[in-house]
Amino acid sequence: MAKITKKAAQERINSIRKDLEIHNHNYYVLNAPTISDFEYDMLMQELMGLENMFPEFKTSDSPSQKVGSDLETDSSSLEFVQINHKYPMLSLGNTYNKDELFDFNDRIAKSIQTPYTFSCELKFDGTAICLSYKNGELIRALTRGDGTKGDDVSRNVVNIKSIPQKLTGSGWPEEFEIRGEIFMPFEAFDRLNHEREENEETQFANPRNAASGSLKLQNPLEMRERGLDCVLYHFISDDNPFKTHIDAIEAAASWGLPTSTYSRKAYSIEDAIKYIEYWDEKRKTLPFATDGIVIKVNELDIQRQLGFTSKSPRWATAYKFKPEQACTPLLSIDYQVGRTGAVTPVANLEPVQLSGTVVKRASLHNKDQMDLLDIHIGDYVYVEKGGEIIPKITGIESSKRPLNARRPDFPMTCPDCGATLVRDEEQAKHYCPNIDFCPTQIKGRFVHFGSRKALDILLGDATVDALYQKGYIHTLDDLYNLTKEQLLTLDGWKDKSADNLLESLDKSKSVPFERVLFALGIRHIGETTAKMLATHFKSIDALADATRDDLLEIDEIGEIVADELISYFNDQRHKSIIEKLKSAGLKMAIDENESKKLSDKLQGLSIVISGVFSISREELKQIIESNGGKNVGSVSQKTSFIIAGDNPGPEKIKKAEKLGIKIISEDEFNKMLMQ
Ligand code: IVH
Repeated sequence: MAKITKKAAQERINSIRKDLEIHNHNYYVLNAPTISDFEYDMLMQELMGLENMFPEFKTSDSPSQKVGSDLETDSSSLEFVQINHKYPMLSLGNTYNKDELFDFNDRIAKSIQTPYTFSCELKFDGTAICLSYKNGELIRALTRGDGTKGDDVSRNVVNIKSIPQKLTGSGWPEEFEIRGEIFMPFEAFDRLNHEREENEETQFANPRNAASGSLKLQNPLEMRERGLDCVLYHFISDDNPFKTHIDAIEAAASWGLPTSTYSRKAYSIEDAIKYIEYWDEKRKTLPFATDGIVIKVNELDIQRQLGFTSKSPRWATAYKFKPEQACTPLLSIDYQVGRTGAVTPVANLEPVQLSGTVVKRASLHNKDQMDLLDIHIGDYVYVEKGGEIIPKITGIESSKRPLNARRPDFPMTCPDCGATLVRDEEQAKHYCPNIDFCPTQIKGRFVHFGSRKALDILLGDATVDALYQKGYIHTLDDLYNLTKEQLLTLDGWKDKSADNLLESLDKSKSVPFERVLFALGIRHIGETTAKMLATHFKSIDALADATRDDLLEIDEIGEIVADELISYFNDQRHKSIIEKLKSAGLKMAIDENESKKLSDKLQGLSIVISGVFSISREELKQIIESNGGKNVGSVSQKTSFIIAGDNPGPEKIKKAEKLGIKIISEDEFNKMLMQ
């Protein structure tokens, strides 16, 4: 690494840490990364390099020392109960460089005198899961969360076909955990994204995001349709009867648990590298995404001797594959106007195969990027899948430039309405300023307003187009003045379709404020920012009154977003639309009574808990309440049942028996919720 002053290093360290926190949130919580894994890993490597060079800046809360968290931090929107892991759930060290694998091996060889072998495995690109089995039955499934506590996704996991609720065969310890990855095969991923495209919903950037997004769906039935699969690769038990990792995984397979058939034993690091080289090429033919190879010391006693760092085991590491690239001719460039007026250049490419899918379009981001690449129509361009759904062009092959290649002209005017574009210097973006009359912007606003994550109104592209052509809609509030007579004038519309639209408009009046705020389509205000602003300000009036400083005081809000909000609410046109939407009955403030519920399975039941459980009583209480039940302190005629843990209070049990109230175990209770 080049020389760097202490001051510059500290600044760079702080800036990378801040960026990594944001990328962690995008990746683990929002399932919507904005950079590729490779770019992320490079930032992490730079940070670790600087921290090693300047150990005085090392801190225990640096992203280099922590496992990324998939937990939703905003407690107002907790959707799953969080439970402590029995054993921390760590991540793996990784490298893109084969030489570092020799270093990994040397470190082990130095501290261990006996011979050891490796288990070489595919690194499945999904989302980590921890399954707990007791007496051969699945009792709980937790996500990695922040490594210490995870989200309880048991009710969703039971909908993954390959995960057995009951084990077959014999020889399992009474209690054990087995960890692995939930992933979405390419076929299911393509099907899902195709459906989402048809329904005008945002598509998932990659199968990993699709898997973790699906695992956290609130509706287990919806999740069943998603075609998730699972592979388990790490067995843990206080009572571990196995000598090697491979023995444990083979036993798990004999109990009916899904394990990988691609793993191989290696007798040396050179052997392991051969495995890597084989799969670096062959992975392109696999029906699911892999982002590397995991190499683990196979002997469990040696694993124990090597132990862990704060973040990962010393007995395993991951070799990550470089992102796949394809090289293909650029046919033309479209300039797309979005609902906020931003004009984005999108390249049309000669179709080419890339990481399991055919790529026809790629983003060029903005004019600066086009200039930087010195891109010409006809050039052979390199495409990579980054964090976004649309792949991006990362370079051009200048040696292949055809003689007639020509430099594209970035338009001066809006391709839709003809208004002269303006350039936002700070963001290097061109915008169409004609927000009131540019048809693409107007229609885009309606489509966004009605989308599933916004107000969930039955409004597709075609309906919006028809309503706009007829002159029925121009500003968002016009939707709430639509009449059945008007709707019946649309081509092919009958009583039923008109009633359905009116009904969905009516229903949108009970959509919570955070989604209404998102639906307004304010530039840069996505779902999460809207949720955060709603929780912070509680009403649209308070948000509209906020000063730039008030906004900047919020951690997640930077200058661009603050300025955008100020200018949005200073605009009389927006104020008037908001007032009209408010009078139409949309929620413009948080409903304090609204509480997030997981299910109604315990609706109307009064439940007493007594004794010691595998989770804390507070966690158990939360599970009861989030499934609609009431946790009460003492046993009475009204008690529905008692959940008894170890050493339950004898008085409570006696009273329950006298009143004939059912006493169930923690396991029975868990099963009740999983059904
Ligand atoms: S072993 C103590 N084996 O990759 C850590 N992990 O980047 C044990 N992963 O956290 C993990 N395939 O979510 C292991 N064959 C495999 C894996 C694998 C995918 C994931 C896992 C891990 C992450 C690290």
